[in-house]
Amino acid sequence: MAKKIEFNKPFTSNNDSKYINIVLKNKKFADGYFQKKCEQIIKTKINSKFVALTQNCTSALEISMILINLQKGDEVIMPSYTFTSTANAVLLRGAKPVFADVNLYDANLSYQSVKKKINKKTKAIIVVHYAGNSCDMSRFLELKKKYNLFLIEDCAHSFMGKYKNSHLGTIGDFGAFSFHETKNLVGGQCGAISINNHNFIKRAKIILDKGTDRAFIGNKKRYYSWKDIGSEFRSAELPAALLYSQLIKFNEINKKRENIYKIYKKNIDLIENKKFDVIKNDPKNKSAYHVFALLFKNIKIREKFIYHMKKKHISCFFHYYPLHISSFGKKFSRTNMKNTNRIYNGLVRLPIYPSLKKTEIIRVIKEVERFNLMKI
Ligand SMILES: Cc1ncc(COP(=O)(O)O)c(C=O)c1O
Repeated sequence: MAKKIEFNKPFTSNNDSKYINIVLKNKKFADGYFQKKCEQIIKTKINSKFVALTQNCTSALEISMILINLQKGDEVIMPSYTFTSTANAVLLRGAKPVFADVNLYDANLSYQSVKKKINKKTKAIIVVHYAGNSCDMSRFLELKKKYNLFLIEDCAHSFMGKYKNSHLGTIGDFGAFSFHETKNLVGGQCGAISINNHNFIKRAKIILDKGTDRAFIGNKKRYYSWKDIGSEFRSAELPAALLYSQLIKFNEINKKRENIYKIYKKNIDLIENKKFDVIKNDPKNKSAYHVFALLFKNIKIREKFIYHMKKKHISCFFHYYPLHISSFGKKFSRTNMKNTNRIYNGLVRLPIYPSLKKTEIIRVIKEVERFNLMKI
């Protein structure tokens, strides 16, 4: 029997235990060396004004919503085709998530759809760079300027992806990153916020630290006090040590993902009379190579494909259950989103992770080809 090809395997290396053991030895479990080191490395890598390591991407989104003083009566436009955290961050402030449609070719937020949803209550737009591929940022920056909106980048998939020459997460007011075990770099559960507007940095430090001014203790200030709302948004030192171990291997991890992505793309593009399209990336923008996805014509064919791959011991998955049709999300939306529904019904992700072997990549491609020839 052919060996099972898993859908995802988090990257790990021998270095991981080395850095985790340093934390155990030093007995400094919070606000330590690795937290600061990761922040410095990420800040330099993406060329940001300020980076803080957070518990996860969810926290980074929540911090962003506090910083813009989002409140009851405000609306925030976002894709329905995203993870719940994007919308929860808005709801937690008492504001309303407004769902917009995505493009069929890249599953990224549609500028046209967003434009139609802007009204006097709109305070912000959250874009999600799906699969690690950039949204059309010049158009969203244009809307930000015209309607005086905040622009937040949900970069859960897209650490080190680019829009033209700028790193994703540094183009809008805030960028929110995920280093969850399912992402390209893993801190267990970990994340980061990039703040690209100097005016927000001081308050962000307070919000990040449970609403205290602890970050400002120095010669003059001897004790900290409660200054604002906040929460325990900061990452602990153990996840930071794991993330550090991966950040210093970023080039190796990224190169492997890029190679797999390119082998899939080259070979799958050559298949004739395809039953599916490939989710695209504008070649002018560097992808973070997080997801390689196919889009089948309908759910029936997509399910048959997943079943075919399963029989061949290859795990492939779809996502997301769109927020606007989920039992909780229905309350906020009455619109029918053609492309979102189509993507939800047709999309499937192929395995992509650094330890995927060449022989396994070839097996995946062969089975995609074989399925394409099958009469269904
Ligand atoms: C688009 C998007 N945003 C936010 C998140 C939440 O990330 P985290 O688990 O780091 O909080 C995810 C998780 O997969 C996601 O896909």
